[in-house]
Amino acid sequence: MRIALCPGSYDPVTKGHLNIIERTSRMFDKVVVVVLVNPSKNYTFTREERVGMLQKTTSYLPNVEVEFFDGLIADYARQKSACVLVKGLRAVTDFEYEFQMALINKKLNPELETIFITTDVRFMYLSSSSVREVARFGGDFSDFVPPELEAQISKRLCRPKEKEE
Ligand code: PNS
Repeated sequence: MRIALCPGSYDPVTKGHLNIIERTSRMFDKVVVVVLVNPSKNYTFTREERVGMLQKTTSYLPNVEVEFFDGLIADYARQKSACVLVKGLRAVTDFEYEFQMALINKKLNPELETIFITTDVRFMYLSSSSVREVARFGGDFSDFVPPELEAQISKRLCRPKEKEE
């Protein structure tokens, strides 16, 4: 069985992430979406919330499961007998960071390959940080995330609008 991992912070998951997960699920027998810790980030949503959001929005994909792991993805891949990490690339600017991480992961686990798939052009501009920023300032972020997550994201981030004098 060919198992692929889709690693990330998913704070929160966006339509762009889901597009990558869905396309990966068509190429592999099983996909584990792994919510990991990026030590350089302070998260808005807890690990349980991020896992919950992913479970809710990937439940229509029978070969996808979601897990949290606090450690190295290279070790997690060994535990799961996964052969591939799949990452989405939005632009050339993503490449340097992803390339470095792929090389480190290869060094830590030589049996693990990283493959990149290009973002769907509809989601090129999209990132979790832009979702958080638009939501925080009360903007319309409904095109960025699946409808079933909108209320949860608004509740956490939207500030009440200030009344005009
Ligand atoms: O969505 P992000 O924040 O860009 O994802 C980065 C993430 C979480 C995939 C990365 O930080 C990660 O793999 N963290 C786990 C620790 C690890 O294995 N790091 C890779 C070696 S530097």
